[in-house]
Amino acid sequence: MPIPEEFIQELKLRSDIADVISGYVNLKKAGRNLVGLCPFHNEKTPSFSVSPENGFFHCFGCGAGGDVITFIKRIENLDYIDAVKFLAQKAGMSVPEDNKNDGLTRFRNRIYEANREAARFFHKMLYTNEGSKALEYLRGRQLSEKTIIHFGLGYSPKSRYELVNYLKSKGFTNNELIQANLANKSGRGYLFDRFSDRVMFPIMDLRGNVIAFGGRIMSDMKPKYLNTSDTPAFNKSRNLFALQFAKNKANGQLILVEGYMDVIALHQAGFENAVATLGTALTQEQATVIKRYCDEVVICYDADDAGQKATSRAISILRPTGLHIKILTVPSGKDPDEFIKSYGEQGPARFRMLLEKSGNDADFRLRKLREKYNTDITEQRVEFLTEAAKLISSFDNSIEQDIYISRLAGELEVEKNAIKQQVMRYRKKNSREYIKREQREIQNNLSARNDRINTEKAYNLRAANAEEALIALLMYNPDAAQSVFKRLLPEKFITSFNRKVYETIKKRADAGFDFSITDISGEFSNDEMSRITKLLASHPRETDPVSAANDYIAVLEDEAEKLTPEQIAYADTQMLMARLKKLKEKKK
Ligand code: GTP
Ligand code: MN
Repeated sequence: MPIPEEFIQELKLRSDIADVISGYVNLKKAGRNLVGLCPFHNEKTPSFSVSPENGFFHCFGCGAGGDVITFIKRIENLDYIDAVKFLAQKAGMSVPEDNKNDGLTRFRNRIYEANREAARFFHKMLYTNEGSKALEYLRGRQLSEKTIIHFGLGYSPKSRYELVNYLKSKGFTNNELIQANLANKSGRGYLFDRFSDRVMFPIMDLRGNVIAFGGRIMSDMKPKYLNTSDTPAFNKSRNLFALQFAKNKANGQLILVEGYMDVIALHQAGFENAVATLGTALTQEQATVIKRYCDEVVICYDADDAGQKATSRAISILRPTGLHIKILTVPSGKDPDEFIKSYGEQGPARFRMLLEKSGNDADFRLRKLREKYNTDITEQRVEFLTEAAKLISSFDNSIEQDIYISRLAGELEVEKNAIKQQVMRYRKKNSREYIKREQREIQNNLSARNDRINTEKAYNLRAANAEEALIALLMYNPDAAQSVFKRLLPEKFITSFNRKVYETIKKRADAGFDFSITDISGEFSNDEMSRITKLLASHPRETDPVSAANDYIAVLEDEAEKLTPEQIAYADTQMLMARLKKLKEKKK
């Protein structure tokens, strides 16, 4: 583990689960627990409960659960390490990182600090005499005060030495300023500000560190935008503008636009799930990041030639990730920012309409399909039409279907009705299959709902119940645990998930660490944590843990002795005889 145990312990002491969750959920006291509306599914009556005493949360509605770190992982969409860092930041602790990278980490942190100071400096400049034209510029582009503050926009003064002087007075070294790409070195060896007389857009990572800037000139001069080059703390092909906001508003969908201004205008109009690349074409790394936060992307690039090319490129990069892709085309050659503004108060509603009617990538898919066939040859034309009809039948919208049918009919000089009938045939089949599939899914879900994590439980009910009772008992009664650990090897566990849990807590206990629910979240996924929490929530504390433990161990030993048919087939005779003898003795 890269983060030392003592640090995690200290962090947990300082991060009260009730306090942390209260920042997201309105909690009311109910006995020893706190209850509220679950933030992980939609509900009207509270089934979400927090147990400060045990350090876990659990939703009886959707089954989500875990410790304070799991909660942050889920609600902020972070991985374990980032969730730890997030909580640490709140608790005013700094995370010790891998020793090997200590130097680099420290240096990176200096760059974050320099950038944060710079962002503050730029922002303050907006409200000075010199910066007033930048403020006017932003207001002229109809950004509200709130938006300007939310995005931390700013102004870089013309002089080319003010930021350097300011940051040096704050103790930053020449090297740090150059490495952060906030300053350049002149031929004579002087440092000067990289950004001069520009409107500044801070770029942040998911944890809210300022990692870079985009600077827009306020005239028609070139270059229009000047961005931070890659630094030890910034990689432009891995980050996305405004993802730190959008990830929490995604709700399954992100809108991908070209420009910073588009993102900001969209957020201001209520579309807070918009992001943009950082002055370059979309990369595979960015696609992977996007996939982590949604399952549908709406590509909303400019309507010009370059924008359309970029759209095709983006589709081919996003497609392999399995994301659902939609294309939103803004009419009359406007970009999203211009479009929204051109309708004044109606802007957001108009954009909402565009968003709702944005098609899937049908055109693109049909074009691709067609490339596979030589439609001059009759046989291949028929084959293509059959495949195309199948594809069209999958479009949700019947108007859209009709448009594509007409277009195909025209292009291939076929009767429109012939294609239509074919499409209808597939449609009927689709809907029959859809119903069947749905029934199947519901059924699967119903039985799988019993246990998606411990899939072996259904076949080993008695053993699994004893295993779970025992795990709960150990977590609630660490004092009683030592004797159990001594007597019960993990091999005695029959279901592998429970065995893994037992192994994990035993290993921690053997190393002298605590092993309550709040200590093991580094080792399990969110779903696994939910499963473990559910197990705790459904087992009350035992009044006599020692004798209860004995009972559970007895059940496990009993179950372990039951041989499976395979084991019987492969066991040697001597062993089977011994076993038979034992069973007879038991009967007496
Ligand atoms: P406005 O023209 O102010 O509305 O900005 P915009 O955000 O609409 O920018 P535009 O559509 O012209 O460009 C899209 C994005 O490409 C910008 O947000 C920048 O990230 C990037 N970009 C544009 N011009 C330049 C440039 O000159 N240099 C670099 N490096 N990037 C640029
Ligand atoms: Mn624009």
